[in-house]
Amino acid sequence: MRSSDLLLSFAATALAARPFLNEPDTGIDDVMGNLTAGELPPLDQIIGLPDFEWAFRHARPAKNYTYYRNGAAGEWSYRNNLEAYSRFRLRPRVMVDITNIESTLSTTILGHNFSAPFFISPAARADYANEVAEAGLVQGAYEGNILYMAALYAKLSIEEIAAAKPTNDTQVTFQQVYLDANDTATKILFERAEKAGSKAIVFTVDSAADGNRHRALRYGVGSADSSYSYITWDYYQKLQNMTTLPVIIKGIMTVEDAVTAVEKGAPAIMLSNHGGRQLDGSPSALEVALEIYQQAPQVFNQTEVYADGGVRYGADALKLLALGCKAVGLGRPFMYANAYGAAGVKKAIDIMKHEIALDAANMGVADIKKINPSFMKWENNNWYS
Ligand SMILES: Cc1cc2nc3c(=O)[nH]c(=O)nc-3n(C[C@H](O)[C@H](O)[C@H](O)COP(=O)(O)O)c2cc1C
Ligand SMILES: *[C@@H]1O[C@H](CO)[C@@H](O)[C@H](O)[C@H]1NC(C)=O
Ligand SMILES: *[C@@H]1O[C@H](CO)[C@@H](O)[C@H](O)[C@H]1NC(C)=O
Ligand SMILES: *[C@@H]1O[C@H](CO)[C@@H](O)[C@H](O)[C@H]1NC(C)=O
Ligand SMILES: *[C@@H]1O[C@H](CO)[C@@H](O)[C@H](O)[C@H]1NC(C)=O
Ligand SMILES: *[C@@H]1O[C@H](CO)[C@@H](O)[C@H](O)[C@H]1NC(C)=O
Ligand SMILES: *[C@@H]1O[C@H](CO)[C@@H](O)[C@H](O)[C@H]1NC(C)=O
Ligand SMILES: *[C@@H]1O[C@H](CO)[C@@H](O)[C@H](O)[C@H]1NC(C)=O
Repeated sequence: MRSSDLLLSFAATALAARPFLNEPDTGIDDVMGNLTAGELPPLDQIIGLPDFEWAFRHARPAKNYTYYRNGAAGEWSYRNNLEAYSRFRLRPRVMVDITNIESTLSTTILGHNFSAPFFISPAARADYANEVAEAGLVQGAYEGNILYMAALYAKLSIEEIAAAKPTNDTQVTFQQVYLDANDTATKILFERAEKAGSKAIVFTVDSAADGNRHRALRYGVGSADSSYSYITWDYYQKLQNMTTLPVIIKGIMTVEDAVTAVEKGAPAIMLSNHGGRQLDGSPSALEVALEIYQQAPQVFNQTEVYADGGVRYGADALKLLALGCKAVGLGRPFMYANAYGAAGVKKAIDIMKHEIALDAANMGVADIKKINPSFMKWENNNWYS
């Protein structure tokens, strides 16, 4: 590193010590700050996804909020997930006919049609938000016609979630699993998922050990997945033989593992650090996607790549799509939105669709399926350097 670069990088580090805006000031505090404890603002006061977090934090007990909000250790990965998007600048084009942009939002995920390139990531325990629990998520996903990935450690059982589908014959959902190398138990679980209508298994591999979550432990809301788990590539191949469903790998954090996943025949992978809840210091999905783009771009052609973590705005999703991701997931925003039940989840979906369309149009992207890396400047920029 040249000495001038070194100096610049020090300056960037010092100036990066700016306040962390977990909840940007959308004005909701000024307008709705008079709510009584336990009261949700009316849904029409929710303008963007961050407002759902504000609403949840105000209306639900601290313990419930902590379960969703918590990240691992010093929460640097949680914070980085949110901030990584702003370090990469857009390269908007002008004079492009973008007037049909909304009609280009739909996509396929493992061959299934959905109205938008984003989905509900699997998150445990929807009952911290609403007594309808996962029914709000699966019904909201149905109304918005997006993919719902049900979590194994949901409040409702696999069968109850299936029964909560407004039309359980047609709505495509995927089933997330944690496994503990008991083949009998795994087969039973896969059979249940298949019978309940799941079209894919989402195998979470980023949680070989329990997440080190301080605030969650204080409130007694730590992870349910708390043992050391046997998760290896050989085991993954064995799993692929135990079900006819495609087995997606969730929690890829390096280009090496993405390449290996392709070699092992993964039909899809999800770049994820579990919302910064497992290993503090693990990279955001955007950083991993960039690493793959720079070192093994063929991966995006060889398997479907999904990504999640910190997606809160349309442009965040577009940055991941630009690198070659097929779809992006959101965890916490939908969990918070579910405080309003399916109506809140549907509203969150509508907000994301609207923002993706607006931002793509302003970027000069005429067709979301044709967004590509040239719409981004891939040097890491700090706003303050
Ligand atoms: C409350 C909560 C529970 C979660 N539970 C699971 C889980 O059971 N299985 C899993 O694979 N991921 C789980 N995740 C991680 C999500 O699938 C997803 O990777 C993460 O939430 C994405 O980050 P975001 O919340 O910033 O959108 C959970 C996340 C949250 C916030
Ligand atoms: C809170 O303020 C809003 C906007 O100023 C007003 O519409 C609402 O009636 C107030 N609610 C209460 C409980 O005072
Ligand atoms: C998915 O959409 C394509 C293109 O619009 C259509 O041809 C196909 O029949 C749809 N598949 C399903 C299962 O609806
Ligand atoms: C908080 O979460 C618990 C589940 O642990 C749930 O029973 C309770 O209803 C939630 N509180 C509210 C106000 O939703
Ligand atoms: C589908 O819904 C019907 C009617 O609500 C219910 O009887 C059936 O058990 C459900 N099927 C599954 C697989 O959940
Ligand atoms: C494996 O799972 C089966 C089915 O749930 C259970 O009966 C058995 O006791 C488990 N074996 C071990 C070693 O835990
Ligand atoms: C999975 O099945 C295939 C085809 O039947 C076989 O070639 C392969 O060895 C099996 N893999 C494992 C790990 O059992
Ligand atoms: C991926 O596929 C696209 C479309 O076929 C092609 O243009 C591109 O060169 C491929 N990229 C790599 C790295 O293989």
